[in-house]
Amino acid sequence: MEKFKLFYSVISCYLTHVWLTTAISEIFVANYAGYNKHRVLQRFESYETLTAHSVIECARICSKDDRCFSINYLETVSECQLNHGIVVEDFSNSDISQNGIYFERTNKNECQHGGFMNGNNTSCDCVDGYTGNRCQRLIHDCMDGASLSYYAGVRAIVYIYPNTAPSPFQITCRFQWGGRNIIMEHFDRDFTFNRTWQEYKEGFNNSRANRWIGLDNIYYMTQAGLTGLHIEIKTTNPSQLLSSGFKNFQITNETENYKILGIVERYNNFPVCMPQLIGAEFSTYDAIHHNSSVNCAAAYGSGWWFNGDCTSCNINGRLNEPGNGSVPIHEVFVDGYAGRIVGVKMWLV
Ligand SMILES: *[C@@H]1O[C@H](CO)[C@@H](O)[C@H](O)[C@H]1NC(C)=O
Ligand SMILES: *[C@@H]1O[C@H](CO)[C@@H](O)[C@H](O)[C@H]1NC(C)=O
Ligand SMILES: *[C@@H]1O[C@H](CO)[C@@H](O)[C@H](O)[C@H]1NC(C)=O
Ligand SMILES: *[C@@H]1O[C@H](CO)[C@@H](O)[C@H](O)[C@H]1NC(C)=O
Ligand SMILES: *[C@@H]1O[C@H](CO)[C@@H](O)[C@H](O)[C@H]1NC(C)=O
Ligand SMILES: *[C@@H]1O[C@H](CO)[C@@H](O)[C@H](O)[C@H]1NC(C)=O
Ligand SMILES: *[C@@H]1O[C@H](CO)[C@@H](O)[C@H](O)[C@H]1NC(C)=O
Repeated sequence: MEKFKLFYSVISCYLTHVWLTTAISEIFVANYAGYNKHRVLQRFESYETLTAHSVIECARICSKDDRCFSINYLETVSECQLNHGIVVEDFSNSDISQNGIYFERTNKNECQHGGFMNGNNTSCDCVDGYTGNRCQRLIHDCMDGASLSYYAGVRAIVYIYPNTAPSPFQITCRFQWGGRNIIMEHFDRDFTFNRTWQEYKEGFNNSRANRWIGLDNIYYMTQAGLTGLHIEIKTTNPSQLLSSGFKNFQITNETENYKILGIVERYNNFPVCMPQLIGAEFSTYDAIHHNSSVNCAAAYGSGWWFNGDCTSCNINGRLNEPGNGSVPIHEVFVDGYAGRIVGVKMWLV
């Protein structure tokens, strides 16, 4: 710590001197990579990368730009990254990437990341998943945002940053009923879930309410303690919303093909076979991880946790055709429910 303080005061003295002599009234807080707590910000925070011959030049560019709150300077390649945000959390368990210097503007007291001052100029109302009195950090999950006045009650696409995830990602949050992390939604019959392993791993969506958040992100969220899984179906004849809930939902990472390690039913308004799928690995038509004579994912038209008999429920199939005929296996079905399913949604809490 002593070493850090010394370095800190030397560099701030040096910088103060530079600012005075160049009449730039900015003060930067300096950190140096190699010291535990210091890190180069995520690329996610950088909105522009340019070449600068020195860190001072990079800082000068930042100080002239209202959008700029901090910089990363990569000495070895003379790269200057301008960032929208500042680091205020303890990132000591993150990777320290490259040989960089991080500087933060200290005289910018405004709201960051598109936030704005609320009525009495005391704190910021934030957007896009940011929070904190200057909107400087991201929420960890949708529950984290549900109690904040500027998010409460709305449904929005925001960034979350579970502390188990390597970087933030976008998700649809329902900031109501304590907050819901929507991992899957399917409401358009023409939107297909018959997709590749890579797509299921990374996620896919369209601009309407059809999305899969990605298996890696589901893994990170369950690792962060979001192990409550809820499945909701929208039916016709009669028209209703039914839901079933589970606890202790755990999957592995990609090394074991996102195998279901555990899941326990909490309540059901319709039966879903999830507990029967414990031990099943995830498969897609191009990545088969089950012992069966058929390619289950191709036959059922979706990625899912299939085992030897494929499955007795599939939430990711095609939405049901209206009408009363029997439901083909490549459409959504849950064991024992005969009605028409015209919309589905899954979320974690
Ligand atoms: C003003 O600030 C106080 C204390 O932070 C807060 O309770 C109140 O809701 C704020 N009023 C408005 C209009 O934002
Ligand atoms: C908030 O700050 C702005 C700009 O400094 C000022 O115009 C406004 O009167 C302030 N509002 C309150 C309620 O203090
Ligand atoms: C939708 O997909 C794009 C990439 O295809 C991704 O960048 C974005 O975060 C996704 N949005 C949601 C809400 O999942
Ligand atoms: C999955 O987790 C195991 C154990 O934590 C780890 O050894 C492995 O590298 C991880 N695989 C991936 C693809 O992250
Ligand atoms: C498939 O069967 C083989 C041999 O019995 C076994 O080693 C493997 O774990 C099984 N795979 C799955 C996904 O059940
Ligand atoms: C899913 O896609 C694969 C690859 O295009 C195809 O072979 C399979 O027939 C499709 N399944 C359904 C039910 O459409
Ligand atoms: C479909 O089923 C509903 C309810 O079971 C029934 O009221 C309706 O008459 C049926 N329609 C046809 C076309 O069979």
